[in-house]
Amino acid sequence: DKAGHKHFMAKEIAEQPQVIGDAISHYFGSGTDLHLPGDGIDFNGISRMILVACGTAYYACLTAKYWIEKLAGIPVEVDVASEFRYREPPVGEDAIALFVSQSGETADTLAALRYCAGKARTILSVVNVPESSIARESDLALPILAGTEIGVASTKAFSCQLTVLLIVALEAARQRGRLDADRQAEIVTALRGLPARLNLALDTEAITERLSQELAEAQDVLFLGRGQMYPLALEGALKLKEISYIHAEAYASGELKHGPIALIDQNVPVVVMAPRDPLFDKTVSNMQEVMARGGKVLLISDKAGIEAAGDGIWRSIEMPVVEDLLCPILYAIPAQLLAYHTAVAKGTDVDQPRNLAKSVTVE
Ligand code: F6R
Repeated sequence: DKAGHKHFMAKEIAEQPQVIGDAISHYFGSGTDLHLPGDGIDFNGISRMILVACGTAYYACLTAKYWIEKLAGIPVEVDVASEFRYREPPVGEDAIALFVSQSGETADTLAALRYCAGKARTILSVVNVPESSIARESDLALPILAGTEIGVASTKAFSCQLTVLLIVALEAARQRGRLDADRQAEIVTALRGLPARLNLALDTEAITERLSQELAEAQDVLFLGRGQMYPLALEGALKLKEISYIHAEAYASGELKHGPIALIDQNVPVVVMAPRDPLFDKTVSNMQEVMARGGKVLLISDKAGIEAAGDGIWRSIEMPVVEDLLCPILYAIPAQLLAYHTAVAKGTDVDQPRNLAKSVTVE
């Protein structure tokens, strides 16, 4: 049942305020205390975390690296499961291994988990399907509570994965004495306000739909982001290519001048995901480099960011202001809407893109 939407993907994008709200209530109850199930996870006894997944779930892990390292001070390694499983990486008692999977059945991710079982101190997973193999074989499975996701391109599962991974980072920070009660309360308040901000982000749909008509003409699209927004750029590019079949690539903004800037001309839209955070000014200079070469910048930012970027921007999509840590979750929405409407404009099969399966249970 598409609940009045044209595609499951549209329905699932629209459901995000609700399901993310559910996940937040699940892990926080009504106060500001965390309710990570199973008190057993000891974030003090470890010296590193290993995060492994595939595809969109891998980008959720990359985002979590920024959060866990910054908030909890734990070094984090992130890898795609198909590489991790065959590399014979050293894994020991000093590590928590964490696997992220919507389906909980992805063959490579499951194999990576089995490789770590009996080596790592704790096997954690972040899953949407609690009865799945990955959930069952973990010491502790944290549900993302996204509900059934039917569209092949992951949307609400991604933002719910991010939400739960941020909560893991907060719990790790709390245990390690790096999160005082005031800051914790501030973040929890921001999280509780997130569904309302997500609804505001969804209100940009009409603008995004119009923009997507223009994006649908492009052969190639670049996505740029810095810091915790870099994985979001990767996710935006993946979403666009998998459902619209437009070639899209993402780079960390600072990498632009190390190669990809050679691609820039007036035919290449460059989507920049950059809230007005402490790194914003650096991203502005990257945008200027693009514009100086005739590139078309589509800036996704907040009001202050769009104003500060000045003239010369091709198009912009304005996001509400949120606590910095929550920007990756909020900015997932315009990334998904852009991909969705561009694919609709091109007339592709949005819910069932060619060559793709929802659950990849073979290598
Ligand atoms: C992209 C997408 C895939 C999955 C990947 C992992 O939109 O959906 O990249 O994220 O196949 O799947 P799970 O999360 O089920 O392990």
